[in-house]
Amino acid sequence: MRVLGIETSCDETGVAIYDSEQGLLGDVLYSQVKMHAEYGGVVPELASRDHVRKLLPLLDEVFQNAGLEKGDVDALAYTSGPGLIGALMVGASTGRALALAWDKPAMGVHHMEGHLLAPMLEEHPPSFPFVALLVSGGHTQLVQVDGIGQYALLGESLDDAAGEAFDKAAKMLGLDYPGGPLVAQHALQGDRTRFRFPRPMVDRPGMDMSFSGLKTYTLNTANDHRDNDGRIDDQTMCDIAAAFEEAVVDTLAIKCKRALQHTGFKQLIIAGGVSANQRLRERLEEMVVKERAELFYARPEFCTDNGAMIAYAGCQRLMAGQHSGLEIVTKPRWPL
Ligand code: KG4
Ligand code: ZN
Repeated sequence: MRVLGIETSCDETGVAIYDSEQGLLGDVLYSQVKMHAEYGGVVPELASRDHVRKLLPLLDEVFQNAGLEKGDVDALAYTSGPGLIGALMVGASTGRALALAWDKPAMGVHHMEGHLLAPMLEEHPPSFPFVALLVSGGHTQLVQVDGIGQYALLGESLDDAAGEAFDKAAKMLGLDYPGGPLVAQHALQGDRTRFRFPRPMVDRPGMDMSFSGLKTYTLNTANDHRDNDGRIDDQTMCDIAAAFEEAVVDTLAIKCKRALQHTGFKQLIIAGGVSANQRLRERLEEMVVKERAELFYARPEFCTDNGAMIAYAGCQRLMAGQHSGLEIVTKPRWPL
């Protein structure tokens, strides 16, 4: 089965074609990040308009790149939620309209299911069952995955998502949006031992997490080291970034270890924007070796939002005989 996937839930317009026999045939992405950086975060109305502007040219491009006639797919998949309502509407209405015009079935896909299955697009994919750590700008969840659509929540952040905490910590350090990659970059030059931030909720049983306190810790530490002009010297900034990253990564590793022990599973996958974080990957690699388990993740461009993961997730659902109705359904809030 060949599926066209459309992702427009936030600030990336992603379109891809996945074929269940041949794999990924085309994948194009337009990121709005530069436009939103000016405002220090995603501006929903600007995001919707930019999706409208970019989606049709990207659709032309993906068919061209795949060497296919436009419309030469068996079905369509689009992100139905969760995400920004206006942004979701653009992808969902386009997907639905094309499905009607080409007389093909269409499937509304859960954005986090897309992330969760993204490692399946790699050469050595995991096999069911596994534990998934979903770490994005909007979600931080540990999920027991027994198969497509068989998800049990093991634990989640009770306040900020890990990516959101990265973005807010970055802002406090005077770094641009999105802050995650910039905090990681500065942390590389930082001394990870100069400041020690707490590991929230690790002394409590269970797999729930909390990251908002680390934000406050970041702000207080930064404020303690400002000069008379309110500036922090570069090395101190890098040291704070390193302490923050270390605390987030360490906390996630402790909770992932618990999830492996709780389920008895030997495979851990990480997905979502924060799974691109190099330090997180290193720390989890160390942990899984000790647990005699294996770690899986997607290539960096498939950790953040993209159309390929939606095409793949949609294809799995469609092959299982599922499809959405004719109405255009978007769900800004939608539990996995
Ligand atoms: O999955 P994603 O692209 O969008 C959502 O569905 O939210 O995730 C974006 C989040 C942002 O918060 C961004 O700062 C974070 O992922 N991120 C990172 C890294 N790359 C992206 N956080 C830490 N380290 C990174 N290398
Ligand atoms: Zn995402």
